[in-house]
Amino acid sequence: MSQYVIAIDQGTTSSRAIVFDHDGNIVSSGQKEHEQIFPKAGWVEHDAVEIWDNTREVIGTALSKANLTRHDIVAVGITNQRETAVVWDKTTGKPVYNAIVWQDTRTQSIVDELAADGGVERFKQKVGLPLATYFSGTKIKWILDNVDGAREKAEAGDLIFGNTDSWVTWNLTGGTDGGVHITDVTNASRTMFMDLETLSWDDDILAAFGVPRSMMPAIKSSSEVYGTVHTSQLLREVPVAGILGDQQAATFGQAAFEKGGAKNTYGTGNFLIVNTGEEIVHSKNGLLTTVCYRLGDAKPVYALEGSIAVTGSLIQWLRDNLGLISSAPEVEKLARTVEDNGGVYIVPAFSGLFAPYWKGDARGVMVGLTRFANKGHIARAALEATAFQTREVLDAANADAGVDMEDLRVDGGMVANDALMQFQADILGIPVIRPKVTETTALGAAYAAGLAVGFWKDTEELAKNWSEDKRWEPNMDADERDRQLRLWKKAVTKSMDWVD
Ligand code: G3P
Repeated sequence: MSQYVIAIDQGTTSSRAIVFDHDGNIVSSGQKEHEQIFPKAGWVEHDAVEIWDNTREVIGTALSKANLTRHDIVAVGITNQRETAVVWDKTTGKPVYNAIVWQDTRTQSIVDELAADGGVERFKQKVGLPLATYFSGTKIKWILDNVDGAREKAEAGDLIFGNTDSWVTWNLTGGTDGGVHITDVTNASRTMFMDLETLSWDDDILAAFGVPRSMMPAIKSSSEVYGTVHTSQLLREVPVAGILGDQQAATFGQAAFEKGGAKNTYGTGNFLIVNTGEEIVHSKNGLLTTVCYRLGDAKPVYALEGSIAVTGSLIQWLRDNLGLISSAPEVEKLARTVEDNGGVYIVPAFSGLFAPYWKGDARGVMVGLTRFANKGHIARAALEATAFQTREVLDAANADAGVDMEDLRVDGGMVANDALMQFQADILGIPVIRPKVTETTALGAAYAAGLAVGFWKDTEELAKNWSEDKRWEPNMDADERDRQLRLWKKAVTKSMDWVD
C-alpha cells in the first residue's frame, strides 16, 4: 500500500492541503481563500478562526479527492505565512483580536518609539532583523496595548501568541484539550525575539517590547515529531512532524540544502533566500538574516533573505481595486497588448518598502504617465515592478556574497507567467530556472515532516527529486537594461519622497 505525506500551507490569501507521494509528486490538494480585512489604510487582518476552519476543510478535500484516509498518511508538515500574529486565550481557545498580517503597517509608531533608543538596527546583531512593522514583535505589543484587558490577561499567563504555524498546530493537536504550543526555529526567527546563536527567546528584547515570555511558544527544530493530531480530527493520531515558514519551506522544496543554494518565490510578495550554511552572515546591503532550517538535533542552517512586500498582491489590486482585469492570469494577456511599458513605472510600496530599503513610510507611486499610457502599459508596469524589485534584492545578495549568482531558481504562482519570467531573465542578465514541481512551499514542509518519520532518508535523497522544467535565457541588450534600471530606481526615489 502506498503511503503519503500531507502538507498544510497556511498562506496569506488561502489555506491549502497537498498530499505528496514518495517521489515528491502531488497526489491531490484542497484550497480555500480567506477574507482579507482592511479596516483602515495600512491595516491588514485575517480572522484566525476562519483560517482554522478552512484548514480543516481543505484537509478533508485533499484526502477525499484521492480517496485517502488517515491510514495512508505517515506525517503532517505545516508551512505558513510568516510574521502574522495571532494572540489567543489558552482556556477558551478564542483569539482576542484578528490576526495582524505581516503586510500591516499600523505599528510604525511603535517602531519609531523603539528605534528612538539605538536606531532601527538596535537588535539586528542578535536577531538578524531591523525594527520594522513587518515582524511579529510590534504586532503583539499593539494587541497588548490596544485590546481591552489583554495586557492583564497576558501577564496572568492566560494569553498565548503564535504565528499561524503555532495556531494551526495548537488546534490540530487538540486546542484547549492539550494542544501543543510550539513553533519552529524559522518562524521564531521572524518575531524579533529569537537570538540567532542560542535559538531561544531573548529576555531583554521581550522586556523592551513589554511582551511576557509566558506568551511565547516553545521553539523546536523544523523536523521532529511535535505531537499527534487530536482524536477529534480527520487525521487523528498522525504525527505532526515538520514546520517551516513558507519561504524557508520553498527553499527546502527547491532542494537548496547547501551553502550558496538560492531560490526566489513569487507569491503575494517575493522572497529571495540564499543559504549561508552554518554561518550567521550579517548583511551590509539591506537583507535579513534568518534561520533556513534545522533538522532535529543537527546544527541550524542560516540564510540571507531579500523580502519584497508587494508583487502578486499588486496584480490582485489591479483586479480587486481597479477592476482592470477579472482574474489574475489575465494580466499577462493585457500586458501583451502593448510593446513595452510606454514609460510607465509602478512602485508598489503599499506596506512601505521592504528589502533592500526598509522604508516604512514610503508609499506606492505610478510615474511616467502621458496621454499615451493605457491599461496595457499599467499591466505591464505592474509585472515589471516584480522583476525590478527582484533585481534589487539579487544585487544586494551578490554584494553580500562577493560573488554573482549564476542563475536563479524560481517558484510560486507567478512563475506560470511566461512574459514575466522572460522579462525577469532580461533584467537580471542571468538564466531563470523553473523546477517541475512549482509547489515547492508545500513540498518543503512535506519533506521536513517525512524526514522526521523516516519516509525519506536524507536530504540527498530529496535532492534527486528536483528536476528542471523550463529555463529563460536573458535576451536584452545591456544598454537597454541599464536604462530601464535607471528609470526604475528614479521611480523608487519618488515613492520614498511621498511621506505624509
Ligand atoms: O513573510 C511573509 C511571507 O511568509 C508570506 O508569504 O506566500 O503567504 O505571500 P505568502
